[in-house]
Amino acid sequence: MDPVKLMKQEVGRAAAAQVQSGTVVGLGTGSTTAFAIQFIGDRLKSGELQDIKGVPTSFQASVLAKQHGIPLTTLDEVDTIHLAIDGADEVDPQFNLIKGGGAAHTREKIVDGLAEKFIVVVDSSKLVDKLGTTFALPVEVLPMAVAPVTRALTAMGGTVELRMGVKKDGPVITDQGNMVLDVKFAAIEDPAGMEQTINNIPGVLENGLFVGVATEVLVGEVKDGAASVRSL
Ligand code: A5P
Repeated sequence: MDPVKLMKQEVGRAAAAQVQSGTVVGLGTGSTTAFAIQFIGDRLKSGELQDIKGVPTSFQASVLAKQHGIPLTTLDEVDTIHLAIDGADEVDPQFNLIKGGGAAHTREKIVDGLAEKFIVVVDSSKLVDKLGTTFALPVEVLPMAVAPVTRALTAMGGTVELRMGVKKDGPVITDQGNMVLDVKFAAIEDPAGMEQTINNIPGVLENGLFVGVATEVLVGEVKDGAASVRSL
Protein backbone atom coordinates (compact mmCIF):
# COMPACT_ATOMS: atom_id res chain seq x y z
CA MET A 1 0.00 0.00 0.00
CA ASP A 2 1.28 3.50 -0.73
CA PRO A 3 2.81 5.10 2.41
CA VAL A 4 0.33 7.99 2.69
CA LYS A 5 -2.63 5.61 2.47
CA LEU A 6 -0.98 3.36 5.06
CA MET A 7 -0.50 6.31 7.47
CA LYS A 8 -4.15 7.31 7.03
CA GLN A 9 -5.34 3.77 7.58
CA GLU A 10 -3.37 3.26 10.78
CA VAL A 11 -4.31 6.62 12.27
CA GLY A 12 -7.95 5.93 11.44
CA ARG A 13 -7.70 2.56 13.15
CA ALA A 14 -6.15 4.16 16.27
CA ALA A 15 -8.93 6.75 16.51
CA ALA A 16 -11.66 4.14 16.00
CA ALA A 17 -10.16 2.14 18.89
CA GLN A 18 -11.00 5.05 21.22
CA VAL A 19 -14.75 4.84 20.56
CA GLN A 20 -16.64 3.33 23.50
CA SER A 21 -19.97 1.50 23.60
CA GLY A 22 -23.04 3.58 24.38
CA THR A 23 -21.63 6.84 23.03
CA VAL A 24 -22.46 9.42 20.38
CA VAL A 25 -19.64 9.90 17.89
CA GLY A 26 -19.06 12.83 15.53
CA LEU A 27 -18.09 11.39 12.15
CA GLY A 28 -15.73 13.66 10.23
CA THR A 29 -15.12 14.00 6.51
CA GLY A 30 -12.16 13.14 4.29
CA SER A 31 -9.97 10.23 3.32
CA THR A 32 -8.41 9.72 6.78
CA THR A 33 -11.67 9.77 8.70
CA ALA A 34 -13.10 7.38 6.11
CA PHE A 35 -10.76 4.73 7.54
CA ALA A 36 -11.92 5.54 11.10
CA ILE A 37 -15.56 5.13 10.00
CA GLN A 38 -14.71 1.80 8.38
CA PHE A 39 -12.98 0.52 11.56
CA ILE A 40 -15.83 1.71 13.82
CA GLY A 41 -18.15 -0.30 11.55
CA ASP A 42 -15.86 -3.34 11.82
CA ARG A 43 -15.90 -3.10 15.63
CA LEU A 44 -19.70 -2.89 15.60
CA LYS A 45 -19.97 -5.90 13.30
CA SER A 46 -17.68 -8.00 15.49
CA GLY A 47 -19.77 -7.13 18.57
CA GLU A 48 -16.78 -5.54 20.30
CA LEU A 49 -18.64 -2.21 20.20
CA GLN A 50 -22.36 -1.74 20.88
CA ASP A 51 -24.99 0.98 20.91
CA ILE A 52 -23.13 3.68 18.96
CA LYS A 53 -24.78 6.61 17.25
CA GLY A 54 -22.97 8.74 14.70
CA VAL A 55 -23.51 12.40 13.86
CA PRO A 56 -22.23 12.88 10.28
CA THR A 57 -20.43 16.07 9.22
CA SER A 58 -21.26 15.70 5.52
CA PHE A 59 -23.08 13.65 2.90
CA GLN A 60 -19.80 11.72 2.51
CA ALA A 61 -19.74 10.77 6.20
CA SER A 62 -23.41 9.86 6.11
CA VAL A 63 -22.97 7.59 3.06
CA LEU A 64 -19.90 5.88 4.56
CA ALA A 65 -21.59 5.39 7.95
CA LYS A 66 -24.56 3.70 6.25
CA GLN A 67 -22.21 1.50 4.20
CA HIS A 68 -20.43 0.37 7.38
CA GLY A 69 -23.55 -0.17 9.47
CA ILE A 70 -23.20 2.77 11.87
CA PRO A 71 -26.61 4.07 13.04
CA LEU A 72 -26.96 7.81 12.55
CA THR A 73 -28.59 10.53 14.60
CA THR A 74 -28.94 14.32 14.43
CA LEU A 75 -28.29 17.27 16.70
CA ASP A 76 -32.07 17.53 17.19
CA GLU A 77 -32.04 14.16 18.90
CA VAL A 78 -28.88 14.20 21.02
CA ASP A 79 -27.48 16.91 23.25
CA THR A 80 -24.04 15.38 23.79
CA ILE A 81 -21.36 14.23 21.39
CA HIS A 82 -18.87 12.24 23.43
CA LEU A 83 -16.15 11.99 20.83
CA ALA A 84 -15.58 13.47 17.38
CA ILE A 85 -13.01 12.10 14.92
CA ASP A 86 -12.02 14.27 11.99
CA GLY A 87 -9.12 15.00 9.65
CA ALA A 88 -7.34 18.28 8.98
CA ASP A 89 -5.36 19.96 6.22
CA GLU A 90 -2.90 21.70 8.56
CA VAL A 91 -2.21 21.36 12.30
CA ASP A 92 -0.05 23.86 14.22
CA PRO A 93 1.79 23.21 17.52
CA GLN A 94 -1.14 24.66 19.52
CA PHE A 95 -3.53 22.17 17.84
CA ASN A 96 -5.14 24.92 15.78
CA LEU A 97 -6.27 23.63 12.39
CA ILE A 98 -7.09 24.49 8.83
CA LYS A 99 -9.92 22.30 7.56
CA GLY A 100 -12.21 22.36 4.55
CA GLY A 101 -10.16 20.60 1.87
CA GLY A 102 -13.34 18.64 1.24
CA ALA A 103 -15.60 21.70 1.59
CA ALA A 104 -17.21 20.24 4.73
CA HIS A 105 -15.76 22.61 7.34
CA THR A 106 -19.04 24.33 8.24
CA ARG A 107 -20.77 21.18 9.51
CA GLU A 108 -17.46 19.87 10.82
CA LYS A 109 -17.01 22.96 13.01
CA ILE A 110 -20.51 22.51 14.46
CA VAL A 111 -20.04 18.81 15.27
CA ASP A 112 -16.36 18.87 16.28
CA GLY A 113 -16.92 21.98 18.39
CA LEU A 114 -19.76 20.34 20.34
CA ALA A 115 -17.78 17.20 21.15
CA GLU A 116 -16.47 16.57 24.65
CA LYS A 117 -13.34 15.20 23.00
CA PHE A 118 -12.20 15.93 19.45
CA ILE A 119 -9.48 13.70 18.01
CA VAL A 120 -7.77 14.97 14.87
CA VAL A 121 -6.44 12.26 12.55
CA VAL A 122 -3.64 13.26 10.18
CA ASP A 123 -0.57 11.96 8.44
CA SER A 124 2.71 13.67 9.31
CA SER A 125 2.65 15.91 6.20
CA LYS A 126 -0.12 17.98 7.82
CA LEU A 127 2.02 19.29 10.71
CA VAL A 128 3.11 22.93 10.23
CA ASP A 129 4.76 25.59 12.38
CA LYS A 130 2.30 28.24 11.21
CA LEU A 131 -1.13 27.81 9.66
CA GLY A 132 -1.54 28.96 6.08
CA THR A 133 2.00 28.10 5.02
CA THR A 134 1.11 25.05 2.91
CA PHE A 135 -2.67 25.19 2.44
CA ALA A 136 -5.12 27.84 1.26
CA LEU A 137 -7.85 28.68 3.77
CA PRO A 138 -11.32 27.50 2.64
CA VAL A 139 -14.14 29.99 3.12
CA GLU A 140 -17.77 28.96 2.47
CA VAL A 141 -19.71 31.83 0.89
CA LEU A 142 -23.32 32.38 -0.17
CA PRO A 143 -23.32 32.37 -4.00
CA MET A 144 -24.72 35.92 -4.36
CA ALA A 145 -21.88 37.29 -2.20
CA VAL A 146 -18.90 35.69 -3.96
CA ALA A 147 -17.75 38.97 -5.62
CA PRO A 148 -17.84 41.25 -2.52
CA VAL A 149 -16.35 38.56 -0.26
CA THR A 150 -13.55 38.00 -2.81
CA ARG A 151 -12.80 41.75 -2.72
CA ALA A 152 -12.80 41.81 1.09
CA LEU A 153 -10.46 38.80 1.35
CA THR A 154 -8.13 40.28 -1.28
CA ALA A 155 -8.01 43.52 0.73
CA MET A 156 -6.90 41.41 3.73
CA GLY A 157 -3.85 40.26 1.71
CA GLY A 158 -5.23 36.94 0.47
CA THR A 159 -4.98 35.46 -3.01
CA VAL A 160 -8.46 34.19 -3.68
CA GLU A 161 -9.63 31.38 -5.95
CA LEU A 162 -13.16 30.10 -6.45
CA ARG A 163 -12.98 26.32 -5.93
CA MET A 164 -13.92 24.45 -9.09
CA GLY A 165 -15.46 21.01 -9.33
CA VAL A 166 -13.72 17.82 -10.38
CA LYS A 167 -15.82 15.72 -12.76
CA LYS A 168 -18.39 18.54 -12.52
CA ASP A 169 -18.26 21.69 -14.62
CA GLY A 170 -18.35 24.95 -12.70
CA PRO A 171 -17.79 25.69 -9.01
CA VAL A 172 -17.93 23.24 -6.13
CA ILE A 173 -21.31 23.47 -4.40
CA THR A 174 -21.23 22.59 -0.70
CA ASP A 175 -23.67 20.35 1.17
CA GLN A 176 -25.48 23.60 2.10
CA GLY A 177 -25.69 24.84 -1.53
CA ASN A 178 -22.94 27.45 -1.21
CA MET A 179 -19.55 28.07 -2.87
CA VAL A 180 -16.00 27.88 -1.53
CA LEU A 181 -13.23 30.45 -1.87
CA ASP A 182 -9.70 29.15 -1.25
CA VAL A 183 -7.61 31.98 0.16
CA LYS A 184 -3.82 31.78 0.24
CA PHE A 185 -2.15 33.92 2.88
CA ALA A 186 1.64 34.08 3.41
CA ALA A 187 1.18 32.76 6.97
CA ILE A 188 -1.59 33.24 9.49
CA GLU A 189 -0.05 34.97 12.51
CA ASP A 190 -3.27 35.31 14.53
CA PRO A 191 -5.60 32.36 13.75
CA ALA A 192 -8.23 33.35 16.35
CA GLY A 193 -8.37 36.97 15.12
CA MET A 194 -8.49 35.93 11.48
CA GLU A 195 -11.24 33.37 12.12
CA GLN A 196 -13.43 36.09 13.62
CA THR A 197 -12.56 38.77 11.05
CA ILE A 198 -13.38 36.55 8.08
CA ASN A 199 -16.62 35.31 9.61
CA ASN A 200 -17.67 38.95 10.09
CA ILE A 201 -17.65 39.61 6.33
CA PRO A 202 -21.29 39.63 5.21
CA GLY A 203 -21.97 36.61 2.99
CA VAL A 204 -19.41 34.34 4.68
CA LEU A 205 -21.00 31.29 6.27
CA GLU A 206 -17.88 29.77 7.85
CA ASN A 207 -14.13 29.54 7.34
CA GLY A 208 -11.80 26.59 7.88
CA LEU A 209 -9.85 27.92 10.87
CA PHE A 210 -10.51 25.72 13.93
CA VAL A 211 -8.99 27.46 16.94
CA GLY A 212 -8.90 25.79 20.36
CA VAL A 213 -11.26 22.98 19.29
CA ALA A 214 -9.00 19.91 19.08
CA THR A 215 -8.16 17.95 22.22
CA GLU A 216 -5.83 15.30 20.78
CA VAL A 217 -3.92 14.93 17.52
CA LEU A 218 -3.07 11.44 16.25
CA VAL A 219 -0.31 11.49 13.66
CA GLY A 220 0.38 8.60 11.32
CA GLU A 221 3.97 8.05 10.25
CA VAL A 222 5.78 5.55 8.04
CA LYS A 223 9.41 4.57 8.55
CA ASP A 224 11.11 1.82 6.52
CA GLY A 225 7.71 0.72 5.23
CA ALA A 226 6.23 0.29 8.74
CA ALA A 227 3.41 2.52 9.93
CA SER A 228 3.15 3.91 13.46
CA VAL A 229 0.85 6.36 15.21
CA ARG A 230 1.83 8.89 17.83
CA SER A 231 -0.42 11.06 19.96
CA LEU A 232 0.42 14.75 20.39
C1 A5P B 1 -13.16 18.21 4.84
O1 A5P B 1 -13.73 19.38 4.43
C2 A5P B 1 -11.85 18.49 5.48
O2 A5P B 1 -11.92 19.32 6.59
C3 A5P B 1 -11.10 17.22 5.79
O3 A5P B 1 -11.36 16.77 7.08
C4 A5P B 1 -9.66 17.50 5.60
O4 A5P B 1 -9.52 18.04 4.30
C5 A5P B 1 -8.78 16.28 5.74
O5 A5P B 1 -9.03 15.38 4.69
P1 A5P B 1 -8.08 14.17 4.39
O6 A5P B 1 -8.10 13.28 5.58
O7 A5P B 1 -8.67 13.55 3.16
O8 A5P B 1 -6.70 14.72 4.12
